[in-house]
Amino acid sequence: MSHDVVAPPPPRTVVVTGGALGIGGGISRRFARDGDHVVLVDIDADAAAATSAEILAAGGRVSVLVGDITEDDTVARLASHVADEHGHADILVNNVGDFRPAKSFFAKSPPEQWRRLHELNLWHVFSVTHALLPGMIAHGAGSIVNVSTVEAFRGIPGNAVYSAYNAGVSAFTKSLAVELGPSGIRVNAIAPDLADTPQTTAELMLAGRDPALLRSWLPLGRFGRPEDFAGVVAFLTSDDAAFITGHTIPVDGGTLAASGWYGKASGRGWTNMPDQA
Ligand SMILES: NC(=O)c1ccc[n+]([C@@H]2O[C@H](COP(=O)([O-])OP(=O)(O)OC[C@H]3O[C@@H](n4cnc5c(N)ncnc54)[C@H](O)[C@@H]3O)[C@@H](O)[C@H]2O)c1
Repeated sequence: MSHDVVAPPPPRTVVVTGGALGIGGGISRRFARDGDHVVLVDIDADAAAATSAEILAAGGRVSVLVGDITEDDTVARLASHVADEHGHADILVNNVGDFRPAKSFFAKSPPEQWRRLHELNLWHVFSVTHALLPGMIAHGAGSIVNVSTVEAFRGIPGNAVYSAYNAGVSAFTKSLAVELGPSGIRVNAIAPDLADTPQTTAELMLAGRDPALLRSWLPLGRFGRPEDFAGVVAFLTSDDAAFITGHTIPVDGGTLAASGWYGKASGRGWTNMPDQA
């Protein structure tokens, strides 16, 4: 009796921006674990070296490109690297994003902050996608996942500009998906909330509060871990999601669904009142 030996699929080339730490780090490790070749782009050389060493030690494939993704030079180096070493990208994860340059009420925020927020949250999504798309289109297949935020779908005081640019990420995701469907390229996004990452550490988010409060704050009762987000990105880029394009999937422990509802401190029921009676 003969047994057919099923060869593993060839490694896909996966570009992850901000692929060293936090959600991006989880995404890099997940694709490497799944046998893909990760092109990890990050501004933090030490963190990129550490994540890459971890991937290599686990038998994975990774190459590192250090640079600020908001700069044209970094995007050009990335495009050359992908074209020279891999021909094209199979998967692009536009993960870089940051709310921090402008945490202040809009009326008091200086325009330079809006510019930096634009570069960090929306501009590079355009520039990196634009640079890698010709190779993907020529290949006739591919998958793009953008990282948006739940704040694109609900109001967040103090972060109006950040949320507007991320709503732009989700709108771009929809329109680009329609444009690229006939080219065999799917475009989706995830919208995280409350991830325990260097940008929003659990310690920072709790700010001295009792961790037991998490069950009244988030329906799932805990902060998100990088692997929670990586798993959804892995799904969206897999054949299991072959008929999904143009959508932003919230990965938020239920906060968007709850919007405004909190578990009572007593543990008995829910309230949408500002007090905890
Ligand atoms: N943390 C959350 O709760 C949360 C919530 C909503 C949305 N998001 C989004 O998820 C994404 C990842 O967030 P995170 O919390 O993991 O971030 P993080 O700041 O913890 O990690 C970001 C990674 O990107 C790198 N990076 C930062 N700026 C860069 C640049 N200009 N060029 C290249 N690399 C750069 C960092 O070195 C780091 O490795 C962002 O788009 C963020 O807006 C996060």
